[in-house]
Amino acid sequence: MSNNMTLKRIALVGSGIAGTVIMGYGILVVLFSHEMTTIPIHHLLHADMAAGAGMLAMALAACLPSRERERSGWVLPAVLAPAVGLLLMWPSEYAYLMSHPWLHVLDHLGIAVCSVLAVFAAQAYVRGLGWPMLVLLVGMDAAAAGGFGVSPGNREALLSSPAFAATENTVAGPSQAASPEALGKQLSQSLGCIACHRMDGIKGVGPSWINVAGYPQKLTDGTTVVADYSFLRKAILHPEEVHLEGFPAGAMPTSYRTMLSGPQHADEKELNALISYINTLSDRSSPATQPPAPAASGK
Ligand code: HEC
Repeated sequence: MSNNMTLKRIALVGSGIAGTVIMGYGILVVLFSHEMTTIPIHHLLHADMAAGAGMLAMALAACLPSRERERSGWVLPAVLAPAVGLLLMWPSEYAYLMSHPWLHVLDHLGIAVCSVLAVFAAQAYVRGLGWPMLVLLVGMDAAAAGGFGVSPGNREALLSSPAFAATENTVAGPSQAASPEALGKQLSQSLGCIACHRMDGIKGVGPSWINVAGYPQKLTDGTTVVADYSFLRKAILHPEEVHLEGFPAGAMPTSYRTMLSGPQHADEKELNALISYINTLSDRSSPATQPPAPAASGK
């Protein structure tokens, strides 16, 4: 019997320590790799923190004296803590936090404290309720990693923040995509193009890429140009020179130039892959709208 108790105690202490380590990792990693995370990876860190916080909270809750358990007063923190945690992940603060590492660490600390409190209070309120609360918190953060609750406008603000733009080189990284089109599609996600460009014909911050290649583009100076290869190229590398009617000038980041062209990208493989992908979305794709020979393949 007493052997059992010791085992239980070891398990509790172990899960408390493991939880603290896992949670601490999520809090501190922003300090060191602040500029190296993408939004999805970043929210996975939140999920990691919630998991660690939950483990710690379950261990702490098990230490509660029994008269403190199942008290109705715990319902309040059990409901409020996750709500406050959510507020701390409010997307409109992303860009600001990206440029203020210390605040960002504090923000993570706040989220971690809320997670500990939420799971602890739930478990103290009704024994066993801590587990679903833990799963809920981790699930919520994981859903955010999948893009849930991140509005395009805020992604845009984040992407144009220097801290984030500077990292995109690393994120695009070497890629195993088989065809240029597939690589282009992948890049449109990893480089954040999809935050502003939709693939369904609906206007976003920028124009949808459906039927752009080969189609006439109305410019603010009243002229119209057909979007051939050189137009698409210019629109991506020198957005400050392309002003489409109906879109705010200067909204498209100019930072892609250094990520897609220049000495390090002499073959312009990524740039051409993006243009190949844009071509797959148009029914007027032609040799004139496709990248020059080597990158053009298939359709
Ligand atoms: C922050 C929002 C934003 C991001 C991110 C963004 N764009 Fe844009 N893009 C725009 C806007 C706005 C325009 C219209 C530019 C103008 O009129 O000044 C535009 C225009 C374009 C055009 C011309 C489209 C047309 O209909 O003629 C292309 C091509 C393009 N972007 C490609 C890209 C690629 C490739 C990426 C990612 C590597 C990207 N954009 C990322 C906002 C964005």
